[in-house]
Amino acid sequence: MVDLQVIILAAGEGTRMKSDTAKVLHKVAGKEMILHVLDAVKNITNNKPCIVVGHNADDVCNKINDDVCFVKQEEQLGTGHAVLSAIDYIKDEGNVLILYGDTPLITEETINLLLKYHDDNKLDVTVATMILDNPFGYGRIIKEDNKFKKIVEQKDTTEEENLIKEVNTGIYCFNASALKLSLSKLNNNNNQNEYYLTDTLEILLNNNYKIGTMLSYCCNDFYGINSREQLAHAEKLMRNKINKKLMDSGVTLIDPEHTYIDQEVQIGKDTIIYPNVIIEGKTVIGKGCVLRSNTRISNCIIKDYVNIDNSVLLDSKIDEKTNIGPFAYIRPNSDIGKNTKIGDFVEVKNTKIGNNTKVAHLSYLGDSELGENINIGCGTVTVNYDGKNKFKTIIKDNSFIGCNSNLVAPVTIEENSYIAAGSTITENVEKNALAIARARQINKLNWHKK
Ligand code: UD1
Ligand code: CA
Repeated sequence: MVDLQVIILAAGEGTRMKSDTAKVLHKVAGKEMILHVLDAVKNITNNKPCIVVGHNADDVCNKINDDVCFVKQEEQLGTGHAVLSAIDYIKDEGNVLILYGDTPLITEETINLLLKYHDDNKLDVTVATMILDNPFGYGRIIKEDNKFKKIVEQKDTTEEENLIKEVNTGIYCFNASALKLSLSKLNNNNNQNEYYLTDTLEILLNNNYKIGTMLSYCCNDFYGINSREQLAHAEKLMRNKINKKLMDSGVTLIDPEHTYIDQEVQIGKDTIIYPNVIIEGKTVIGKGCVLRSNTRISNCIIKDYVNIDNSVLLDSKIDEKTNIGPFAYIRPNSDIGKNTKIGDFVEVKNTKIGNNTKVAHLSYLGDSELGENINIGCGTVTVNYDGKNKFKTIIKDNSFIGCNSNLVAPVTIEENSYIAAGSTITENVEKNALAIARARQINKLNWHKK
């Protein structure tokens, strides 16, 4: 295998996006475009990819945690100029793979096909091409006698060229020395006054280098994003791909067109997902779960046979056979046990809840630790905040908290204890005790007459 270097172009402003954010930082299926491109190249070479940054360079660099090197293109004078900015990175030997940061659907398999085609056919440059019914916006592949001649950009096409449907995907493999030579000969005599990388192919052809086009049928892999409309389409393409993979692995999606799952999410078989469910980040969901409509789950671990209805769950863990919702809000750092119930209008934050505990309705549990087999009555509130600091509530196994109780933290309710409904508990409650902390009822007779 020849030495392979990778250059990813990500310096452009993305004018057509009309955004303050760099184009390559717009997200597709929950992840920045440039990070999708990096995923596709991470296993194909041991050389660090070189990313050409320019517009919003700091933001782009800050988003990338992989081991890469950055080159700054001070002025964005075109894709050829962008590669020229990285010339010091390009060795004299081996091959250079060039990709654009705005094609997030590209895959490792497709790149490998291009590299193989390049090697098998002993080419100096190989460009991946595709045929589109609507080629508008892409550079056209101009051929004569079925041999590559040049690439013409949309803005430079003649009427006749405009009809050509074979287009440049923007993914190339160059012989390194040929690339260097052609970059030195580029000019900007075109309608955009840019130094086009695409012109290097014609230059090399005229210098007797071997240029090849690899027609690919995985058109979606090369989908380029220049506008918000294309961003939305790419989102759809990627979500379809993710959803298909999940369905193939045994997950039921009632309506895959309206199910929004990020790429890194893992879901076990026989889990059923209703429409309008959003599952984000690195969430892992077990088997046999049912996730009903309007649920959003972000970075959670959900074990097997959990039911969730109309709820929001963030950065938390839910153990098996637990029921959540409808209308529950599980905030970060919560850890909920097996066979528990978190019912309607319950908010849980930074709280650990033991197995078989029930919080059926209208409660707030914050900064708390609950044991097993506890019943939390309707309207229970852990009073965890005094305006300055947060305090902890501990409720031990088999306790029964009556409805509408306030548990003023820091406070501990020991095992097997009872809290009378309507109590405001400010002191610890001993094991096996009943605490009543409310005014005694007085009935004033004949009040109506007065
Ligand atoms: C480019 C190709 C076109 C191809 C299409 C595929 C050229 C001249 N045209 O057109 O043939 O069909 O991609 O999607 O290459 N960039 C820089 N510095 C610059 C200019 C651009 O880094 O000075 C980066 C952009 O951030 C982007 C990529 O290069 O990631 C492509 O630039 P863009 O302006 O989107 O090119 P297209 O018009 O889409
Ligand atoms: Ca583009």
